[in-house]
Order: sequence, then C-alpha cells, then structure tokens
Amino acid sequence: MAEKSLGVLIHGAGWVAGEHVKAFTANPHTRVVAVSSRKLSSCQRIAETHGLPDVTFFTDYDKALAHPGVDIVSVCTPQHLHAENTIAAARAGKHLVIEKPIANSPAEMRAMREAVRKAGVKTVVSFVLRWNPLFETIKAMVADNAVGKVYGVEADYQHDIASWWTGFEDARTKKLGISAMLTGGCHALDAARWFAGQGRYEAATPIEVFAYAGGYRKGLSEEFNYLTNSWQPAPPLEYDDLEMVMIRFDNGVLGKVSVNYGCVMPYMFPIEVFGDRGTIKDNRVWSHKFPGQKKWVEIPTILPDSADVSHHPFQGQIDHFVECIHQNHESHCNLEDAIKTHEIVFAAQECYRTRQPVQLPLSEK
Ligand SMILES: NC(=O)c1ccc[n+]([C@@H]2O[C@H](COP(=O)([O-])OP(=O)(O)OC[C@H]3O[C@@H](n4cnc5c(N)ncnc54)[C@H](OP(=O)(O)O)[C@@H]3O)[C@@H](O)[C@H]2O)c1
Repeated sequence: MAEKSLGVLIHGAGWVAGEHVKAFTANPHTRVVAVSSRKLSSCQRIAETHGLPDVTFFTDYDKALAHPGVDIVSVCTPQHLHAENTIAAARAGKHLVIEKPIANSPAEMRAMREAVRKAGVKTVVSFVLRWNPLFETIKAMVADNAVGKVYGVEADYQHDIASWWTGFEDARTKKLGISAMLTGGCHALDAARWFAGQGRYEAATPIEVFAYAGGYRKGLSEEFNYLTNSWQPAPPLEYDDLEMVMIRFDNGVLGKVSVNYGCVMPYMFPIEVFGDRGTIKDNRVWSHKFPGQKKWVEIPTILPDSADVSHHPFQGQIDHFVECIHQNHESHCNLEDAIKTHEIVFAAQECYRTRQPVQLPLSEK
C-alpha cells in the first residue's frame, strides 16, 4: 500500500525555512501545505521563491495548527520561541522538526519533553551536520573500528556570527540568545557527542562538564567582515564570543569543544577523533586498517566548511525523519537526544557561575 502523503506547516518564514521547504518539496512523501510567520509578506515571499502551489498562509500559529492537512510542523522561528511553538504543535498532535537551539533554558526543555512524550509525536532536531557527507563517513569509519576504541574527540565552531545574519538582532542579546555555545556552538557539541559514540547511530551521553568563557567581542560595537577584510560598526554581542568546554562522557571518552565568534577568518568546523588504533582529522585518516600507511589518507568528500544554509544537508535530515514517521521509529536525533547536547550548554553556564565541574544530567530542582 502506498504511504500516506504528509502535509507540512513551515513556521517562521526566514532564512533556514527556505531549506526546509526545498527538502520537504523534494521528498516524495511530503508536501508543504501551509506557511505561518509574523508577517504575511514573509509567507508570500517564501512561497513565491520556491514555487509552492496550493499553500495556505497564516499569521496566527494556532489557526495554522488547526489546518486539517498538517501532519508535520517545522519550527523555524527564532530560538526563544522554539519551546512554546513545539509544545503547541505537540499538543495539536503534530510531528516536529525543531530548529536548533531547541530552547533557552533547562526548564523549557523539560516542558517540551513532557509535551512530546504525552502526545507521542515524532521529533527530529536540526543537528543537520549528522547528514553531512564527512560526518557520515567519519561515523561509519568509527563504527567500523577504523580508529579502534575512541578515547578523545574535538570539535570547534569557528564562525564570525555577526550582523550579516538575519537572526542576529535577537540572538546577539543575553536575554534571547543566552550564549555563543547555545546559538551556534551547539552544532560542535553535538558533533563531539556523535563521534564519541562508537555505534553507527549512537551519540555519547555527557556526564560532566567544565568550561571557560572569554574572548573580546562582548560589548564591542564593531565586527570584522571577512568578505571585505574590514572592520565595520555593528550592534554588540551581549555575551562572550569564546567558550571552551571540556566534557566527560559515560563511555570514558573525553571531549574538547569550542565556539568562537571572534575569529578573523572564514567559517571553519574542525573535527578530531582519536582512537587507540588510529586518528581522524577532518577528512584525513590514519588507521591500523592501512598497515603500510606513510602519509595521511585523504578522503575526497564534502566538508562542513560553509555556513550557508544551502550547503547544509537538510535533504538527508528530512528524508530520514519521514522514514522514521512511516516506520514508527524514533530518530537518533530526536528531542530526547538533543536535550543531552543542550544540557552541556547550560552546564557551562552554571560552571561560569560556580567555577566548579557540573554533573549531568542537570538536576531538575
Ligand atoms: N540547523 C542549522 O544549521 C541552522 C541554520 C540557520 C539557522 N538555524 C536556526 O533556525 C532558527 C531561525 O533562524 P533563521 O536564520 O532562519 O532566522 P530568520 O531568517 O530571522 O528567520 C526567522 C523567522 O521567524 C519569524 N518570526 C519571528 N518571530 C516570530 C513570531 N513571533 N511568530 C512567527 N514567526 C516569527 C520571522 O518572520 P517574519 O519574517 O514574518 O517577521 C523570521 O522570518 C534559529 O533558531 C537558528 O539558530 C539553524
């Protein structure tokens, strides 16, 4: 029997939403049936840009959720709205694609988890790099024992997040953005968890965190533009641009992750995986499986080396999620899993206050 076509509501018609539209449109089992946003003009623009036929526009999210053709909601609004948007959609019985970061506090994450558990809906969080070809290659090699038993992982999110980003005005504030590790660095935390897990679809569970925050951009009213190689006036970041986090995982692996918004260079996302029989540095491999190896083996693939959302593998993420819904499987990247990544962010915040290592999972008090 043919699978039922699933109707999609895109909520928050901005930069990343266009990539969700493209991926759902290309998937043979889904169709975008509605777009909701703050402004009607943004809904219209995204529909025109992507040639969406028969799509209904809403500026009222509750009315959009009541659309009878909606099975899946893609939450593409700014991060401070993700918790309330997710809870409302779960209560309406919709499956959910949730953009990162999922929430601005541990309490919000707990409320989201409760709503999703109660509704029994499926979720996937946009840690979209899990579908990047280099990520897929490293993960498959680790699972295939190419580096032996993993004992250390490193990942860094090095990105001059600044006023070029449509979401910057909200995300640069302490109140709505919280921290650099939350707004952007969570991608690197998730990468560390992903590569610290030895199984093909397993992300390691963090049990302890220690972190420092610093840098130079907090409060600075200028920013570097690497395209023009010049400094220009800009509204300041209200939090530190550099965070360095140490993580202990329950399988004994140690992780070192940084987020760096102050870097004067193009975007980079370095990855290192150390095992007791080999090492992976980005797309370079040293492995006991190549006993005559004298130089690094370089894998020709697509690296996570662009910040442009059109470079991100949303198609892989969305195809995976639709399969999860059809086969009634939980995604390895569902809300419950993403909470473990985000808890590291909030543990780092606690560490800046207490200067003590923080145990995970966080206390629910
Ligand atoms: N996974 C990834 O790799 C990735 C990449 C980029 C972004 N993101 C994440 O995706 C989220 C959105 O980022 P973005 O870059 O797309 O930002 P964006 O371009 O600013 O888009 C956000 C959209 O949300 C809409 N919005 C704001 N407040 C709203 C409200 N109260 N009700 C309904 N709609 C509202 C705005 O719509 P109007 O135009 O109607 O005002 C805006 O177009 C962020 O959490 C970001 O971190 C993830």
